[in-house]
Amino acid sequence: MRSNKFSSGSRQVLKTTDMSIIRISFLMLFVGVVLSSCYYDKEELLYGAPVPCTDTTGTISYAAKVVPILQANCYGCHSGSAPSGGQAMGTYTADKTMAQNGKLLGVISHATGFSPMPKGGSKLSNCNIAVVRKWIESGAPNN
Ligand code: HEC
Repeated sequence: MRSNKFSSGSRQVLKTTDMSIIRISFLMLFVGVVLSSCYYDKEELLYGAPVPCTDTTGTISYAAKVVPILQANCYGCHSGSAPSGGQAMGTYTADKTMAQNGKLLGVISHATGFSPMPKGGSKLSNCNIAVVRKWIESGAPNN
């Protein structure tokens, strides 16, 4: 009798241990999934999305391709009568000046010696930087 009671008691202990092992395994699996998804997010941030930048094929139009990028990321602080840092943007002449003195590409590609832009915001996507770069390299035309 005594030994029976004892063995049923230890079986109970064993069951409880099994349950916590299962719970811990699920927890580890969950943590693993969360951590690995973070890892992929970071990789995408560091190396850019793995999709090729189709926007750079052919001639880059200032009005159709470049202005929307600058409008969404720069004009808010750099257009009007008192542009931030005295750096005017928002007209073809102003944008062309910034393109040709090297500052536009310097600030958006976060090159050393330039203040990284957009200020306080996240860096432009690799694709958008490539679009602006190609427009500048083709002579910053008003097209
Ligand atoms: C939130 C406001 C803000 C936004 C958005 C912003 N800028 Fe600026 N920018 C500033 C301020 C303030 C300065 C002056 C202080 C400094 O240089 O960091 C500045 C300075 C600059 C300079 C001079 C920096 C240098 O190294 O000589 C350039 C060029 C420039 N911005 C271009 C851009 C471009 C291009 C974008 C868009 C991709 C942009 N900015 C977005 C606020 C902004």
